[in-house]
Amino acid sequence: MPLSVAPRTAPSASEIRQFADDIAYYLALSPRQLPSKYFYDALGSALFEAICELPWYRITRAEQRLIERHRRKLIERVQPSTLVELGPGSGAKLATILDASPSWRHVSVHLVDVSAAALAAAARTLSDGGRVDVFTHQAPYESGLAAVRRSGPANGRTLTLFLGSNIGNFDPPGAHALLRSIRGGLAPGDALLVGADLVKEERKLLLAYDDPLGVTAAFNRNLLVRINREIGGDFDVAAFAHRASWNAAASRVEMHLVSTRAQRVRVSRAGLEIAFREGETVWTESSYKYEPACVVAMLERAAFRPLEQWIDDEDRFALTLVEPA
Ligand code: AVJ
Repeated sequence: MPLSVAPRTAPSASEIRQFADDIAYYLALSPRQLPSKYFYDALGSALFEAICELPWYRITRAEQRLIERHRRKLIERVQPSTLVELGPGSGAKLATILDASPSWRHVSVHLVDVSAAALAAAARTLSDGGRVDVFTHQAPYESGLAAVRRSGPANGRTLTLFLGSNIGNFDPPGAHALLRSIRGGLAPGDALLVGADLVKEERKLLLAYDDPLGVTAAFNRNLLVRINREIGGDFDVAAFAHRASWNAAASRVEMHLVSTRAQRVRVSRAGLEIAFREGETVWTESSYKYEPACVVAMLERAAFRPLEQWIDDEDRFALTLVEPA
């Protein structure tokens, strides 16, 4: 495994402004929220990689198994010359797919991620073999996709990868909008592979998002550490507790940070001064869980047609391959 903490590059002035504006907006909502895309600074990306090694967080390993089992069919069916991955993390899954691609085929890879650390790690993993051109786009998914399109027309077919149940971090309207925007950039013959975690026993879901080692708690609270460092927050990080809950009606695991006492917090660059009540929560992430048929229906609503669906029964995870309808 490559080193997953990249050398720290300071965020630009416009990234800081965007972060501060988002935090000002989302923390003022009722209930208070923070967007989960901000988890992934260098430490947050390293903590996420650690989560993937936990025995209780099984998404990454289940998906890796499915990819190893079905990558030949996938490559033969799509025969991609260009691969685009949204949120590649360490790049391990993409490397596994590329391994199955015939060695005479030259492949271009575009990686879209908000995390400079993740992009650096993934680019390093993928550049190893030497036969792929790697382009990185440090941006949220939609603007990253626009940057991929601006970089010129793909030669041959494009396979877009949206793995790791990253789609689960979007509420249904947000997921629909993002799938439409992916769809908008595809041509006939292109394909999209979506990895989605499936509904399972509540006990298993809660252990995955509230692990006994406290790694997920650290991942969650690191968002406050980042706010303190980058936009002048004075959060007492120890006075916010990690909480994960299963919202059955909405079919999602929610992560929250709970203020363990009444306290005032300032975030200078966001112009915020907040009075938290004891027990008041900040909602930091949703991870939607699906039924296999729901994944297909969601993709069909966004003008895709299903080609294959592969399911891991042991850990309840689905990979769904679709083409533009
Ligand atoms: C980014 C979607 C892969 O929601 O399961 C892991 C992030 N959050 N533990 C997820 C996460 C808490 C993860 N994904």
